[in-house]
Parts: sequence; C-alpha cells; structure tokens
Amino acid sequence: MRRNKKRDANFAEVNPLHGKTIILGVAGGIAAYKACDIASMLRRAGADVHAVLTPNAKEFVTQLSLTTITRNTAHCEQFQAQADWKPEHIDLAKKADLILVAPATADIVAKMAAGMCDELLTTLILASSAKVMIAPAMNPKMLDHPATQNNLATLQNHYRYDLIQPDYGELACGDFGTGKMASVETIVAAVAARLLEHRTLSGKKIIVTAGGTREPIDPVRFIGNRSSGKMGIAMADAAYARGAEVTLISTVEVDRAYQVLMVETAHEMQETVEAEFDGCHALVMTAAVADFRPLGFSDQKIKKTVKEDFSLELTKNPDILDLLGRIKRDEQFIIGFAAESEELLSNAAQKLKRKNLDMIVGNDITVPDIGFGSDDNAVIILSADGSKENLPRQPKRAIAEHLCDIIAARFSELETLPTH
Ligand code: C5P
Repeated sequence: MRRNKKRDANFAEVNPLHGKTIILGVAGGIAAYKACDIASMLRRAGADVHAVLTPNAKEFVTQLSLTTITRNTAHCEQFQAQADWKPEHIDLAKKADLILVAPATADIVAKMAAGMCDELLTTLILASSAKVMIAPAMNPKMLDHPATQNNLATLQNHYRYDLIQPDYGELACGDFGTGKMASVETIVAAVAARLLEHRTLSGKKIIVTAGGTREPIDPVRFIGNRSSGKMGIAMADAAYARGAEVTLISTVEVDRAYQVLMVETAHEMQETVEAEFDGCHALVMTAAVADFRPLGFSDQKIKKTVKEDFSLELTKNPDILDLLGRIKRDEQFIIGFAAESEELLSNAAQKLKRKNLDMIVGNDITVPDIGFGSDDNAVIILSADGSKENLPRQPKRAIAEHLCDIIAARFSELETLPTH
C-alpha cells in the first residue's frame, strides 16, 4: 500500500495521541466537572479515552456525559452484571497506556497510597502496569495535611506516579490557597508529554551529585550547609525518565529505581565521583561541597572549655569539579552549579573558566523563597561557548528538564559530527 507521507505527518500533528489508550479516573470532588473538558481534549488529540468514575464522582458528573464525550462506555460499578465471562476492567487495565486520575481527591490519594481497591478505579490502578498520573484537587488545608503530603510522597517516590501540581487560587469552598486542580490544558500537555516522552538520554551514563557535605568535628558535630539536595534529585529523576543510566551520589537519603550512592564528606564524594567518572557521559555537580573541613577529628566529644573562646582549625577540601575538569575527555559534559550571594554573573563566569566546565548554572541565594530547600529556583545558565540564558522562577524539575534538553542536544550534535 502506498502511503501518503504528508497526510501521515498531518494526521500525527492533529492526532498526536492516536493509538494511545487512556483511563481517565474521576474522583468525587467539585473539580470533577472539568473531567469532561479533559476527556474531550484527550479524545480530540486522538486518544482512546475510557472514563472510570468513583461512586462519589457521580454526585458531580454523570456517566452519560463522559460516555458521550469519550465515545466509550464510562464505568463505575465494580460488580456490574456483565454479558461476557471476562471481567471488563481487567482488559481495560491491561490495554491502558496511561491512567490519569483527575481530579484526585485526598481520599483517593490515601486509598492509592495504601493499595486499597474497594471500588473500580482503585482496582484498575492496582491491576494495571500503565503509567499513572494524578492531578490533585482539594482544599489547601487537606492538601497541606501531613497525611496527604505523606501519601503524595509515597505515590511519587515509591510507586513512581507523576504528580501534576495543583495551582494556587480561589477554591470552590471560597478559601484561597494551593489545591486548585491544574488547568485542563496543563493536564493534557503533561499527559501528552508523558506518553510521547522521548528517551533522549537513553544509553548515556549520567552522574549527578546532590545535597550538602558534612565535615565531622567530633562524633556528634559536623560542619554542614543548607543544601536540601532537591535540585540534584530533580535532575537525576529527569535524566532517568529520559532513559539515562543514572548514578546519584548524594548526602541525602532517597529511595529511587536508579543507583543511589550515599556519601557524607567531601572526601567520600570525591572518591565516589572519581570512581564513576571515567565511564560517564555527563557529570552534573549540584552538590554543595564544603570548601573546608576541620583539620583534625576528635574521637571523643569535645567538652565545653573553661575558656570563652574555642577555635577550630580548618583545612581546604579538594575541589572535585576542578580536579575532574582537568582530566575530562572532550566528549564528556560537565555542569557545575554556583550559588552566589553577590556578583552572580562574574563569579559564575570565572568558575566556568577556572574549572574547565562546559556549563555553569548560577543562582542568587539572596533572593527569598527560592534556592536552598525550596521546590523552585531561578537560574542563569552560562556555557563555555559564551552563550547565556536566564530561567525565571520555576520548579526545580522544570529547570532539570531544561538542562536535560541541553545535554541531549549536545550528545546528538556530537553524534552527527564527522569522526575525523
Ligand atoms: O567554587 P564553588 O564551590 O562555588 O563552585 C561550586 C561548584 O563546584 C558546584 O558545582 C560544586 O558541586 C562544585 N564543588 C566541588 N568541590 C568543592 C566545592 C565545590 O566540586 N570542593
């Protein structure tokens, strides 16, 4: 059969999700009315959408609306009498490429985290090996409650479900805060990105360092810093999602599917990075490595002295990036981070040059609410080729995605270069 390439390309543009089966799980919150728009947009993008409502969701939106919009029977009952011998939901669970729960209420988030399956939607989620994405929508206090936060962390970190962050705004209950379901467009874009995800870093080994080092003074005390490790973990997660073989060398404990090597001091970090470096394609040093460590380590806890003053002699730590910048091969890509409290641009530019890096990501630590400990950052990216880019405030994961784009573009450039 002759194929019309132009028509195929056009079809893919209009129907990017053609051939993808999506289960749209709708839980019982007021934002359930938006599920109709989500279903419609996904269907128009070419997806085969099957809506599954929790019994509570039927209080907000009807099965008939979702059946009409998706052009597939919307399900709700777990124990429906059926014509066929085969439980329909198991078939649906098997053929789904992705399960999107939107809106995800605090209740369904808790059930999912606990692995409960007392109605059709949670049963399908347990019975499926499809990707799962959740778009929470709830009152800000419910979202903020440690129970909900723990459940969301379990879904993200243990089950590797994707969270589509709720927005800040006025909620149906009249309260202002974070908890409003992300916009329909944001949700559909996130689903499309997940389904069409390009494994742009597949076959590449990427080392990421994260967290702040701790330099021991005695058995109970150390010199540390405020780094939370969030930027490095976001970077490792993003690279892993793109198919990279990731090694995260971290001072912060995390439970991930990729390799995580725990270290404490700058020396341990140096030894571990050096051991991994030769075989890596890229090194991303987000870790805040202590520049100095106590010259001596006291085996016993240091007692309060009779004198008013106590001085601790410090000695310089090795600069890991500086050492690796000297031995790196041309095809290896090294990214450093520069947290600065003054002269961001010139200090970052100097470090880029001095440490022989390919790129440096600078952030101004005097700006309130971003950087250390925060989920957001705003950075400036300087490259060895002289280019400069400003990324305004955004989630650390979004910054990580941008850095992954740059790394992937660099690798594909190298691959297209003539070998001699
Ligand atoms: O010179 P400065 O410490 O500000 O440079 C920051 C960058 O250098 C970060 O990427 C950090 O991980 C790295 N670094 C290092 N070894 C050190 C200190 C910092 O690799 N001892």
